[in-house]
Amino acid sequence: MALGRGGSMWLSLAVVLCMSLAGSASEIKVGFYSDSCPKAEDIVKEELDKAFKANAGIGADFLRLHFHDCFVRGCEASILVDSTKGNIAEKDAPPNETFEDEVFDGIDSIKKRLEAACKRTVSCADIIAFAARDSIVHYGGKYYSVPSGRKDGRKSIAKETVDLPPPTFNLTQLTTLFYSKGLNRDDLVTLSGAHTIGVAHCPAFADRLYNYSGTLKGDPSLDSGYAKKLKRECPPGNTVTEVDMDPQSPLTFDSSFYKAVTTHRGLFTSDQSLMSTDETSNKVSQYAKNPNLFKKKFAASMVKMGKIGVLTGKQGTVRANCRVINYS
Ligand code: HEM
Ligand SMILES: *[C@@H]1O[C@H](CO)[C@@H](O)[C@H](O)[C@H]1NC(C)=O
Ligand SMILES: *[C@@H]1O[C@H](CO)[C@@H](O)[C@H](O)[C@H]1NC(C)=O
Ligand SMILES: *[C@@H]1O[C@H](CO)[C@@H](O)[C@H](O)[C@H]1NC(C)=O
Repeated sequence: MALGRGGSMWLSLAVVLCMSLAGSASEIKVGFYSDSCPKAEDIVKEELDKAFKANAGIGADFLRLHFHDCFVRGCEASILVDSTKGNIAEKDAPPNETFEDEVFDGIDSIKKRLEAACKRTVSCADIIAFAARDSIVHYGGKYYSVPSGRKDGRKSIAKETVDLPPPTFNLTQLTTLFYSKGLNRDDLVTLSGAHTIGVAHCPAFADRLYNYSGTLKGDPSLDSGYAKKLKRECPPGNTVTEVDMDPQSPLTFDSSFYKAVTTHRGLFTSDQSLMSTDETSNKVSQYAKNPNLFKKKFAASMVKMGKIGVLTGKQGTVRANCRVINYS
């Protein structure tokens, strides 16, 4: 009997050991750098604060960067890679990504300091995840602990940006895409709230002003006063002007995106489509009334998004320069 108990004990020990080994190869965790680079998150925040001083809106870019990174090939920093002679990278996918150079320069400054503090330790993918969280907090969103330990990938392919949703998508298309990334409809409604900060260029919504679904007229579901204002800012063919996505409070992480959507003032077709089913429109109304609920759920959905397709252990690398793939 004693032998039997010992046997099963060894068995369960082996099972636990296997599970933890598997875990270390596939899971990210809060505090991954607490021994190897204890100042990592402080350094990210210090450099971001400098970037905010130069450009108060830059945090919106950092937040969007995490989204674009995670949806294309997973959260493994493919978005940061520069094109080379033989390869057009994600960031140069046509139509051009609209990130400011400042955002990539900002990542470079963070990386430089991290390399000086702890060489080849903190991945570019984790830098993006920390910077997105700090940006949310900067604008008044809720702090959350970022699981880390992501490794950087070894590929960045322009064509793969088809995994990003265009602003013309309807709810069905958005839901299908988010499902394919492991995110559900609630995550979709919640993460869309990111559009409570930041700007968009006119082409992202010009169809709703001038030629909706080929009708040569505006989108009838867009509030007419808001449409008039947008037409003033975006005459036909304008590709350079940027408009605030949440004109009420463009630099505050609050519920006003949802209030706008409930009053036909969502900027994109994709934003407004959240009102097209009872299930999603109820959620929108809930968030419109309860900013703290929105912020709490947003933090949770960000953690979830930050786990899409992560590489850990030997699956990836830690780039010395976030723009350049290394094969070690
Ligand atoms: C649901 C589907 C989504 C669509 C169709 C969409 C589309 C867009 C578009 C077209 C822009 C404007 C780009 C430009 O013209 O410069 C934009 C901006 C932005 N998006 Fe989204 N997005 C989506 C989801 C998300 C998610 C999940 C996040 C983050 C969690 C996010 C964060 C942002 C931010 C912060 C900006 C402003 C960037 C800046 O000010 O530079 N978006 N989005
Ligand atoms: C796209 O980006 C490239 C490189 O940054 C630039 O040379 C080109 O003019 C851009 N194209 C458009 C349509 O903005
Ligand atoms: C969404 O768009 C797709 C593709 O254009 C279309 O087939 C589908 O019917 C649309 N769904 C709704 C609910 O409008
Ligand atoms: C309006 O949209 C339709 C279909 O999207 C397109 O074929 C047509 O060329 C557009 N017309 C103008 C004037 O932009």
